[in-house]
Amino acid sequence: MTEQRRGLDGDWYTDPGTFAEELDRIFTRTWQLVGHAGQLRNAGDYLTATIGDQGIVVNRLADGSLHAMYNVPSLADTVPGIEEEVLAVAPTAPGRTLTHRRTHLCHANWKIAVENYNECYHCPNVHKAFTRGVVSPESYRIASRGQAIRHSATAPATTGYALAGGGEPYESFFVFPVSSIQCYPGEVLNTFRWVPLAVDRTLLVREWWFDADEPTDEQREIIDLDWDTTVSEDFDLMDSVQRGMRSRGYTPGPLIESTDGVATVHSEDTVPHLHDLVRTALGR
Ligand SMILES: [Fe+2]
Repeated sequence: MTEQRRGLDGDWYTDPGTFAEELDRIFTRTWQLVGHAGQLRNAGDYLTATIGDQGIVVNRLADGSLHAMYNVPSLADTVPGIEEEVLAVAPTAPGRTLTHRRTHLCHANWKIAVENYNECYHCPNVHKAFTRGVVSPESYRIASRGQAIRHSATAPATTGYALAGGGEPYESFFVFPVSSIQCYPGEVLNTFRWVPLAVDRTLLVREWWFDADEPTDEQREIIDLDWDTTVSEDFDLMDSVQRGMRSRGYTPGPLIESTDGVATVHSEDTVPHLHDLVRTALGR
């Protein structure tokens, strides 16, 4: 019988020294989502993004290649096979364009945001619209593979989700440390980025990718529903977890793990996996 894993100590979420170390050892060395190749179709096109505490510029060179300030290992090198997996679920993804973006400033450490994202133990209680209308909670599976964490579920047979057909899959591809691509039923594609701004401040960036610069009425309805329910429902939760980390009485709670390492809505196996990735990066 192996010892039950517990969460990280509170100072991992509140100590500015740890945050500075993470910026240095994680955020300047990893592949992260900053945009879509469609934003850089022509030579000279560029986009700016924030990686850790550094501003970067990505541009399309005259020879057609992409150039960024950081030369990090590509997505294909970071997680072999993942590009093919995304394309198998969302074959039209490469042709999409940025249709809509919303941001929210979380008063929480970046790890709280990505831990929250990568466990669905809280979903049935917190995300009623998601678990009743978008996915069937009992079908939800979250599997870790190196720096990738893949979420898979099927839509309920009867769904209130405007574009969804019953039983279609929901798939999400998280890539450590702070990027995720979500593929919803009905070819709805969106992404998350969590930009670490300070040890207790994280900018959440949610972007929707359709085939035009402006959403249709139906797409806007989906965007509003998503933002007003599943996305915003975590805001207060994440901020309160951060406040808890500062409490003198905080001790890391036991984590609920399944027997096969694949998380469901009844376990949180991906949280210790994330902790292992952070510990390895910081050499702790
Ligand atoms: Fe959540």
